[in-house]
Amino acid sequence: ADALKIGIAGLGTVGASLVRIIQQKSNELAVTCGRPIIITAVSARDKTRDRGVDLSAVTWFDRPEELAEKGDIDVFVELIGGAEGAANVSVRTALQRGLHVVTANKALLAYHGVELATIAEEKGSLLNFEAAVAGGIPVIKALRESLTGNAVSRIYGIMNGTCNYILTKMEKEGLSFTECLKEAQRLGYAEADPAFDIEGNDTAHKLAILTTLAFGNRIAADDIYLEGITNISIEDIHAAAELGYRIKLLGVAQRTDTGIEQRVHPTMVPVDSVIAQVDGVTNAVAIESDVLGELLMVGPGAGGNATASSVLGDIADIAKSQPGAQRVPVLGHPAKALEPYRKAQ
Ligand code: NDP
Ligand code: HSE
Repeated sequence: ADALKIGIAGLGTVGASLVRIIQQKSNELAVTCGRPIIITAVSARDKTRDRGVDLSAVTWFDRPEELAEKGDIDVFVELIGGAEGAANVSVRTALQRGLHVVTANKALLAYHGVELATIAEEKGSLLNFEAAVAGGIPVIKALRESLTGNAVSRIYGIMNGTCNYILTKMEKEGLSFTECLKEAQRLGYAEADPAFDIEGNDTAHKLAILTTLAFGNRIAADDIYLEGITNISIEDIHAAAELGYRIKLLGVAQRTDTGIEQRVHPTMVPVDSVIAQVDGVTNAVAIESDVLGELLMVGPGAGGNATASSVLGDIADIAKSQPGAQRVPVLGHPAKALEPYRKAQ
């Protein structure tokens, strides 16, 4: 079968890991997917930067928008970040052109997801975003596909690796908040602007996406009670421990009689609960639904390889898909059938 040609925009922590994995595993991928996956084009800001990967056979575009418009590609992979700017324009351009798109960009989806899903569904393209929520945990697939027919009542969990890493390191190694954040940045866990992590916005973006997949409402990223971890001190962590609790930054979304409640805030969880044992960059997402009961998914929440693993899974799904086949709705429900968001009173 013909090779699947992909263009990757963004060659930072996630993009460079993805290139490396695809190059290292090209033979296995060709067998598993039934066709080779080849990187034909890339884009980033600095062409001269050594990214530890071989890009000699790949066409370089200075601008992601140009890659999306003119690249010799079947799939546009967006790993730039940010709700606006180059990521937003290039993803739109790629979808309008009828390309499939894979993105890890939760900020983009939280603010433009319904519009982008509408374009993708009109064009018959796939828009996959497993890496956008909880890194390597396949929670999008769980909600979008495996739990079809379940009525979800509640979703909650640890959805930001940087914050969980900071809280864990402060408690277990006695390091300061600033030292722990610097380390999370060095390891490639944090957002380009880490305020999104520590002030809770990143968790809110992810929660808003999960809420839509679970409850079938339009995405409401600004209708979330939001409190980050910037005010958590080592004294707070010790005081919680003395009472038998650990502090975790949780995102929670649930159905109530009056509407949907979404909140993000530091929470005291009993030390013997599973969620309290989730340490470091690990994430955990719990989904409560009528047919299945409680599903708890735990795994790596950030970092180059964990995230690239999900991105690659999305690309492989496209490689295996048949042209003209029935598509899974991008947001779990057809974009045009999403209900207005009704906030709990
Ligand atoms: P990085 O900041 O490491 O990389 C961003 C890349 O985008 C860089 O290669 C940069 O180019 C390029 N870039 C930025 N702006 C432009 C522009 N205007 N034009 C062209 N290229 C541009 O980010 P990450 O790899 O960490 O994250 C990428 C995406 O994945 C984000 O949406 C992030 O939220 C998401 N994500 C990240 C995770 C992680 O653990 N890191 C986990 C899950 C999702 P250059 O290198 O030349 O500066
Ligand atoms: N900055 C994010 C985090 C990356 O720390 O969880 C994964 O989405």
